[in-house]
Amino acid sequence: MQSSNKKNLLRITAFSVLHAFIIGLETEYAHLFPPEDLLLAKHIEKTVIQAEENYTNWAAMHIAQRAPYHLQFRLFDHVISPGYAAHKVGRKLLIQQKIDEAIKNGVTQFVFLGSGYSVQPYRISIDHDDHDDLKVYEIDYGLTRKNKIKALTTFASTNQMSLHIQQLSESFLILNNNLYCLECNLEEDDLAETLQAADFDKTKKTLVIAEGLTPYLPLPKLQDLTITLQDFLQEDDECVISFRQSGQYKSTIADRIQYAYDESYQCSLTSRYFPDFILTSDFDVTQRMLHQDILYHIGSPQAKLHTGNFYPKENYFTLKKTQTPQFKQRMFIGDIPNFGFKVDKQNLENITVGCTIS
Ligand SMILES: C[S@@+](CC[C@H](N)C(=O)[O-])C[C@H]1O[C@@H](n2cnc3c(N)ncnc32)[C@H](O)[C@@H]1O
Repeated sequence: MQSSNKKNLLRITAFSVLHAFIIGLETEYAHLFPPEDLLLAKHIEKTVIQAEENYTNWAAMHIAQRAPYHLQFRLFDHVISPGYAAHKVGRKLLIQQKIDEAIKNGVTQFVFLGSGYSVQPYRISIDHDDHDDLKVYEIDYGLTRKNKIKALTTFASTNQMSLHIQQLSESFLILNNNLYCLECNLEEDDLAETLQAADFDKTKKTLVIAEGLTPYLPLPKLQDLTITLQDFLQEDDECVISFRQSGQYKSTIADRIQYAYDESYQCSLTSRYFPDFILTSDFDVTQRMLHQDILYHIGSPQAKLHTGNFYPKENYFTLKKTQTPQFKQRMFIGDIPNFGFKVDKQNLENITVGCTIS
């Protein structure tokens, strides 16, 4: 299938992340996010399902939405990986903490690469709409972007909120004067040009989030992306990026589903090789949060299942421009500090698990 045709397909992985976030919040983790996030997430989900023209997809999503949650947890745990929903909630929390920290530190530009159905760009836009200088860039493509825009606009009208919409072209829409929803296929289009055309200002403090994106891009494209980011980010700017690490466990069902939606993984990197991947760039890895650590911090008993290499993982890293490139040295994953990760302990009990690095 040509990659340009991919854009008209349902991005099943973005939908599964959204659904996992919803069922995570509706069960154990509601206290970790404001109730508006859950409302918006559910509205996006409903919009995606209603917009779906393929009857099989529509039916599958309807069933997923209505099946008892304990069955859904089992299905996610078996088909994808144990603790799937908890992991998605945990990573959103980690990213929310990075966003809050960035706001405190005077960051005024946020770039979400492969933003999918995440509610966080909209939340920043709404929470800081009195801040004239702040801009949030949502980069995605095709049907996912179309569905998201529809969901955001109908969410505002359903909740009697005023929403200022500027449709500058098919691929360039501004909501609320600060949320830039940009079409960019990171495999084919030029991210630098896309951002430049949308008034991205290299001199302003910026946070880039690439959450769950890299598995879907081929390695040379990821290297190009790193070069673009190097040029766009300044000394103190940060980029939070996740990488998938494959395990021995192979889920034929998940593989077939992803193949059918043309979303098979294109890139996988074991956490211990991540510093080497970044070694030749102008970035340092300043923080890490491994998959099992996220589960551990959020209090998921399934954390212990991820201490080895059996199940696939998704690991998170913060990148910062190297201050002294001439003295750049090889780093080891174990020497990189963990993200400071705070979780309201209300639901955490009896967790006895250590985390290993793999
Ligand atoms: C697993 S989803 C993650 C979505 C979101 N970041 C989250 O975690 O909630 C991956 C996202 O990357 C986007 N994506 C994949 N390939 C892309 C490409 N070539 N260009 C732009 N976006 C892409 C998909 O459309 C999808 O929204």
